[in-house]
Amino acid sequence: MASVLASQVALTACADPIAGRNLFDQQCSVCHRSGAGALRTPAAEIPALLQSGSIRTHRFQLSDGQLKDLEAYLAEVQAAK
Ligand code: HEC
Repeated sequence: MASVLASQVALTACADPIAGRNLFDQQCSVCHRSGAGALRTPAAEIPALLQSGSIRTHRFQLSDGQLKDLEAYLAEVQAAK
């Protein structure tokens, strides 16, 4: 488990999962109250999903950096499951 996590962190070296968690708390948890662990979409697909605008209630603009931070945080949450 630790090595899986380490390799994911290495792949997304400039992403900051702590910032991603703050972002989730501020921008997502208001609707996704059961937390990041309850999302069914794999972390790696979430930036594309958010940018696609296919979910009508998702009316926010996140920078590429914010999307990477969010992905790094969600990858950690999902790896821990
Ligand atoms: C205004 C309410 C709202 C906000 C804010 C919001 N969502 Fe959603 N989200 C929804 C709704 C409604 C759906 C579609 C129903 C479902 O599948 O839960 C959804 C679906 C999703 C899905 C697909 C379903 C799944 O379980 O994988 C993902 C991923 C997701 N949201 C991530 C996010 C992230 C990340 C943020 C913050 C950047 C966010 N959402 C903010 C309302 C919201």
